[in-house]
Amino acid sequence: MLRDLVTANRSCRGFDRSRKIKREELLEMVDLARVTASAINKQPLKYFISNKDIITDKITDLVSFGGLLKDLNLPYKGEEPPAYIVICHDKSIVEEQPIFMYEAGISAQTIGLKATEMGLAICIMGGIDPKKVKEELFLPDEMEVKLIIAVGKSLEKAEIKEVESGEGVKYYRDNDGVQIVPKRKLEDIIINRE
Ligand SMILES: Cc1cc2nc3c(=O)[nH]c(=O)nc-3n(C[C@H](O)[C@H](O)[C@H](O)COP(=O)(O)O)c2cc1C
Repeated sequence: MLRDLVTANRSCRGFDRSRKIKREELLEMVDLARVTASAINKQPLKYFISNKDIITDKITDLVSFGGLLKDLNLPYKGEEPPAYIVICHDKSIVEEQPIFMYEAGISAQTIGLKATEMGLAICIMGGIDPKKVKEELFLPDEMEVKLIIAVGKSLEKAEIKEVESGEGVKYYRDNDGVQIVPKRKLEDIIINRE
């Protein structure tokens, strides 16, 4: 069921490094993102994928996990993502415009759903310095980094908690280390009531 997949697709910040991610698995995820919606069907997104420790460890140093859980210094040592997908905008296809940013989001969610279906997990990383990532990964000039997706087998447990209107929505870890992810209720996100 799609609902189960979407619900299971929680952001992960601790990965089982012994479960290596094959390049083919990353390609399967990107191949699904490839066929999603695109403004004027321009399809400007291109992907840098890596499952090589020397590169993934470099990317781990360029991203910032769990801004609301700073004290935990996630990921814990030895639980770094074994793979990454870097979503880029290829300016040689079309100049960057805000409308194309939505595509990175659609792509990231699609990658997340595919990963979840494959028994894996992701974390979308937006807290990045795109220029620095581009430099460190020696990406071609025409590529602009939009989002980075960490991919791997999760070591974490995460649960959604529906919150009342007015309650806080900061995610946190409970006493058992379970990641609690508050989500607003359906009735609180519908603007027009009957
Ligand atoms: C555009 C975007 C950027 C994000 N950037 C980061 C990030 O830099 N670091 C991080 O740990 N999580 C990041 N996240 C994950 C969010 O923190 C996460 O989606 C949120 O806490 C809700 O948890 P959930 O994904 O399990 O529903 C990002 C999510 C989105 C959609």
